[in-house]
Amino acid sequence: MEYQIAKGVFDILPEENDPSDKWRESHLWRYVENIAQKTAEDFGFKEIRTPIFERTELFTRSVGEGTDIISKEMYTFKDKGDRLLSLRPEGTASVMRAFAEKKLHTKASCHKLFYLFSMFRYERQQAGRYRQHHQFGVEALGHESSFQDVEVIHLLVSFLARLGIKDFVLKINSIGDKECRDNYRIAFKNYLHPFFKDLSEDSQIRFEINPLRIWDSKNEKDQQILEKAPSILDYLDVSSQKHFQGVLSLLSDLNISYVVDPKLVRGLDYYNKTVFEVTSSALGAQNSLGGGGRYDGLLKKLGGPDLPSCGFGAGIERIIQTMLAQNVNLPCPPFPQIFLIPLGDIAENRGFKIISDLRQKGIPCEIDLSRKKLRNALRTAHELKARFVIILGEEELQSGTLELKEMATGQTKKMSFEDLEKWHIS
Ligand code: HAM
Repeated sequence: MEYQIAKGVFDILPEENDPSDKWRESHLWRYVENIAQKTAEDFGFKEIRTPIFERTELFTRSVGEGTDIISKEMYTFKDKGDRLLSLRPEGTASVMRAFAEKKLHTKASCHKLFYLFSMFRYERQQAGRYRQHHQFGVEALGHESSFQDVEVIHLLVSFLARLGIKDFVLKINSIGDKECRDNYRIAFKNYLHPFFKDLSEDSQIRFEINPLRIWDSKNEKDQQILEKAPSILDYLDVSSQKHFQGVLSLLSDLNISYVVDPKLVRGLDYYNKTVFEVTSSALGAQNSLGGGGRYDGLLKKLGGPDLPSCGFGAGIERIIQTMLAQNVNLPCPPFPQIFLIPLGDIAENRGFKIISDLRQKGIPCEIDLSRKKLRNALRTAHELKARFVIILGEEELQSGTLELKEMATGQTKKMSFEDLEKWHIS
């Protein structure tokens, strides 16, 4: 084939034959996106859309130069005006940029925002990791209290529950404020220092640039070394501890189960205090369905007011893959109620008018314009999973009566043209 899709990306199509590709069917995406929107709106969030690219510096400053996203994964280019731009690798920085730039703090309706964005990261190709992925994300601004963290977490778990996803695990941790992390970083590095040469190559690099990320290492030897490492929870100041206890107690009040995971640090630099992730065992190594946390200070850093903030991003690809792996009840793809097969020019004219009128009434229907043999046209009706088929030929035109055949049962019913025009879905 002359042109092939670029590596690490995928098409979303009406239908896929291979069961392992079913997650790319567009009606499933629409379904998940609709539930995302409804859940966000039930929680009082309003939609925001930002451009697909921003000035590179926005991401570098927000996400942090030492992170994998910035140091290895950004799609960066110069435009014709010699400006350095990057495709959005994540949504929080763009939303904060828009919030600061448009002074959204002056509008009460803009403090809780949600988005359905595609993100671009030059990732090593593997199952569950794509170079263009899609997130349902939310960002809530304005409140320091634990209520805001729990509101956001409740939204995420409600979204997954509404989709019918089972057995997901909410992992939660607190990484305190900058001072707690600075103190912890010293203790953590002191602990790791004697083991430095035994650490994996990746972790040795992280030791210098971003030591907390060593917690993400899947390397067995690293894991062994980490077993006795100090816990960040022992380095929290009183205010962070209180905040974290507040979050845990509110989660319990809402009967949201969680696991405190002191190893959870997350891969973006802007977080402080609460961080969380929801994982599913239905997925392989890339098991995170969504993650987020609090990022007080980011808005101020980007030139906005000093509003505390909290949010999450959930990966649509992995969510649909989990739904399929768990055999969740899924909606049917859209199908025509009526598939009309005209035989001849006059029937085609008349049939086209009937179908056009029915569509105006919101009844999904289709007319076969291929002039194929009847057998082939019926096969198309079958492939489209049409509910009823009507064959419109000479005889029907003369008698003024049509026959609707229900594809699933083979049952037929006669009706006049006038009755068909008044038809509604039952
Ligand atoms: P993140 O953990 O980098 O956080 O991404 C959030 C979610 O996006 C992940 O849990 C995963 O489901 C999905 N995801 C990430 N990378 C990929 C990929 N390469 N392929 C498929 N899915 C992927 C953020 O992006 C933060 N901005 C979330 C946030 C919002 N924090 C506060 N507000």
